[in-house]
Amino acid sequence: MADLPNDFWSAWIAIITVISFVALAWIVFSIYFSGKDSKTATEESVEPVWDNDLREGNNAPPLWWFWLIFSAMIFSVIYLILYPGMGAFKGVLNWSQDSRLDDSYEVYNDQFGDKRIEISASSLSKLQNNTGLMTTAERIFTRNCAACHGEDGRGQASLFPNLMDVDWQWGSSAQQIEQSIRLGRNAMMPSWQAALGDEGVDQVASYVMTIGSEEADSHPGKAQYNQFCVACHGADGAGNPLLGAPNLNDDSWIYGGSVEDIKRALVDGRNGVMPAFNDRLDDAQIKLLVAFLVR
Ligand code: HEC
Ligand code: HEC
Repeated sequence: MADLPNDFWSAWIAIITVISFVALAWIVFSIYFSGKDSKTATEESVEPVWDNDLREGNNAPPLWWFWLIFSAMIFSVIYLILYPGMGAFKGVLNWSQDSRLDDSYEVYNDQFGDKRIEISASSLSKLQNNTGLMTTAERIFTRNCAACHGEDGRGQASLFPNLMDVDWQWGSSAQQIEQSIRLGRNAMMPSWQAALGDEGVDQVASYVMTIGSEEADSHPGKAQYNQFCVACHGADGAGNPLLGAPNLNDDSWIYGGSVEDIKRALVDGRNGVMPAFNDRLDDAQIKLLVAFLVR
């Protein structure tokens, strides 16, 4: 309640709370203790009687009901003294959601502070040899990465790359993997349909299948590959980690390795996006993930 816009609204709420409370108390007390005992009231007033024995009967509700409301009222008063509720008054206990959050941060730091310092001081290979920490890393992976990269990290749906093999689109070093995680990655492979035409797409796709083999040299798609593709994928198809251009001369494919898959890459282009985790994970968590992934 400390963030109410100004004193006026704070006082407004406090006054309405008090007035409603007093009004409720007045109603409850007047029902039960209006000065006249309900029995004497029945005797004194001339009560209409219908059909010989049918009376209006204005008896007060049962007394246990009064005690129920009364104890709820006492509870409210104590609550409003201890906790925020009366406008901007913070309550005697000074409780707030923020302070609860601060408390839990403190507990978290007490529990894990040393651990985190230890992690940031350790080398990656030392972390990799610590089975306890690697289990933690796996848990961080499951929670943050498995939805895309799969429970086992082996990729899925021919959309999300396998992170457990030796093939790295954006580079295999610890720094490169850390950058993939921290800043994310945006792969830019445009569509080649307009440049190549239908026949060109067929020929280049077929050429890509042969890269690295003997047929490649005399393949009719080679000229167009050299014209349009070498800048990123290289003459030998080895790719370029700076651009995220994958290796095309091995058996590992992000989006599938059939001629159809490759044709689809050429016609539609490919724009894989790896989200940035800089703001979602802290340094210790990211370091654990790098140790978990790097080989
Ligand atoms: C929303 C889905 C998604 C999530 C969540 C996700 N990734 Fe990715 N990640 C991708 C995609 C898509 C790519 C491929 C980007 C591209 O096409 O270049 C990728 C690429 C990567 C790469 C580069 C792979 C290479 O071959 O160079 C690494 C490393 C990586 N992710 C690690 C992680 C880690 C660690 C997490 C969890 C903290 C994570 N990713 C969470 C979608 C995701
Ligand atoms: C501007 C750089 C660039 C050029 C030029 C380029 N590519 Fe790519 N290519 C990429 C990138 C980056 C990716 C990765 C896309 C992703 O991860 O979503 C890619 C992905 C691919 C894939 C999918 C690989 C897989 O593992 O699934 C194929 C196939 C491919 N390119 C073929 C070609 C061919 C053939 C040409 C020439 C017609 C070409 N590319 C030109 C950058 C380029």
